[in-house]
Amino acid sequence: MEQKKPTIVSGITATGQLTLGNYIGAIKNFIELQEDNNLIIFVANLHAITIPISKEELRNNIKNMIALYYACGLDPKKAIIFIQSDILEVTLLSHILLCNATVGELSRMTQFKDKSTKIKAENCTEFIPTGLLTYPALMAADILLYDADLVPVGKDQKQHIELTRNIAKRMNNRYQQDLFKIPTDFIPPIGGKIMDLQNPTKKMSKSSKDIKSFISLLDPCDVIRKKIRSAVTDSESKITYNPEKKPGVSNLLTIYAVLKKVSIETAVKEFVQQDYGQLKEQVAIAIIDTLEPLQIKYQKLMQYQTIDELIEAGATKAQAIANKKITKVKNIIGLNYKKK
Ligand code: TYM
Repeated sequence: MEQKKPTIVSGITATGQLTLGNYIGAIKNFIELQEDNNLIIFVANLHAITIPISKEELRNNIKNMIALYYACGLDPKKAIIFIQSDILEVTLLSHILLCNATVGELSRMTQFKDKSTKIKAENCTEFIPTGLLTYPALMAADILLYDADLVPVGKDQKQHIELTRNIAKRMNNRYQQDLFKIPTDFIPPIGGKIMDLQNPTKKMSKSSKDIKSFISLLDPCDVIRKKIRSAVTDSESKITYNPEKKPGVSNLLTIYAVLKKVSIETAVKEFVQQDYGQLKEQVAIAIIDTLEPLQIKYQKLMQYQTIDELIEAGATKAQAIANKKITKVKNIIGLNYKKK
């Protein structure tokens, strides 16, 4: 008998332009996982409105991200690709999960604490949108609605997956053991946290205000070269891998190793006789070699109407899975009065 393929679920929030961090930490793994698994990937536009964003920017981001997914190599014949808010069941499940989560566990999430501290500091305000607090329950709904076995993410999302597992186990114990599948995170062994180019002790982020701090997947070659040349390193000149003492150089070595598909040790050996300038030159070339073909595909895709059709087809497939699951959840927890 043929074994059922594992289900892989993940998404990216539609805030800002996709970065090299998103590519290495997440998208690259989506592409690799689509071969032998049922892959379900979406654009998390509901998560994008948890912090203020203009409607024009949000609209642009959604379409650009879908086109970039395809340009990076996601194949609509192998994966279900859709927009999160097209599947309304996710908001119902999110509410159900919220009713089984505590304010304490939500407010202990590192990302909530970081984002709310940042809002307070930048805007001198105590006005923290509730969506920031409830964000992980929506993420848990994304995962549990599609019965994910594995969730490919970068390191920063590990805590959210842990919370998803806790809520799922709690509800399985309360209602029925097979209510939810318990998902596992899939974090790449290298590249799970690509660092900010200007402050390499911080994660590279698409919402950063300093454009020199990240590489966007759509940055032209000359911009990539300039950003890598200006990446912060240290005052030594020896190329060694030590994320604590040499975060900037270690970050460049990580980017190089992942994109060239070699181990960190091999990367270090390659640069043993070289200086920081030469390392930066080779890192820039590795990035350009990866991003240039993808940018050409992206430009072509954006010229055609096919994206809209692909988005609709993806939503139809996701809808069928979501509908079945939410009916099961409603029946089991007693929301459907006809079902005993
Ligand atoms: P987001 O949009 O912040 O990031 C998308 C994915 O990219 C990874 N990532 C990184 N990996 C390595 N280095 C970095 N510098 C870096 N920056 C980002 C993230 O870990 C993530 O995997 N809440 C999620 C989106 C989401 C989701 C989900 C993910 C919504 N629902 C369900 C998985 C399953 C987020 O904001 O990711």
